[in-house]
Amino acid sequence: LFLRPWQFIKGVPSMEFLPPEGPAEIAFAGRSNVGKSSLINALLAQKGLARTSNTPGRTQELNYFVPAGHSGEMSDLPEMAVVDMPGYGFAQAPKEVVDRWTELVFDYLRGRVTLKRVYVLIDARHGLKKNDTEVLDLLDKAAVSYQIVLTKADKIKPPAAEKLRHQTLQAISKRAAAFPDVLLTSSEKGHGLDAVRAAVLTAIER
Ligand code: GTP
Ligand code: MG
Repeated sequence: LFLRPWQFIKGVPSMEFLPPEGPAEIAFAGRSNVGKSSLINALLAQKGLARTSNTPGRTQELNYFVPAGHSGEMSDLPEMAVVDMPGYGFAQAPKEVVDRWTELVFDYLRGRVTLKRVYVLIDARHGLKKNDTEVLDLLDKAAVSYQIVLTKADKIKPPAAEKLRHQTLQAISKRAAAFPDVLLTSSEKGHGLDAVRAAVLTAIER
């Protein structure tokens, strides 16, 4: 599935524009600039599919990606859809715009029946922050399965990354909807991608 070409089908600015619920959806969430769009490109091995930027706040809608050749309509269901999300937390955009994205992200995460798992991305240099914890609380409460992925592992030394992985694993150990494994990735160097791909495939089959 990941070796096939993928295409962008739809950008969703607010809840009323969501496509009808159909295929299994896997969403990538996290603070602005954590590397959500980069990880999607790396997983799907397609540079430039999801737009990335050094400026926090690049992704501004829920962006839907499906294997190429599907229209995304109910009559032509793709196997799955990958959803790139706007970041929460700091972004270089006016406060009311950021508030609107945050509301969209929270509403989507809480209410989407076909959402099979959320990958919550955490910068391996920074660890879990307060707004990450709020998102995990929401997912636990809504009983939406999620898994933590540490990103930008190439920016720190392996022992530091491993230490944060263990700390994060402990921090989520009592959380109801957390998948009990924390993945470590670098989209830049291609590290840890197969583990994420394997986890995604398992998640859509549930
Ligand atoms: P928003 O859409 O703004 O919320 O950001 P995002 O989470 O989609 O981040 P994006 O993928 O746009 O990446 C943000 C910046 O981090 C870009 O400059 C990327 O090149 C960089 N980046 C992403 N992943 C990695 C990584 O694994 N290693 C390194 N060194 N840089 C990365
Ligand atoms: Mg993005």
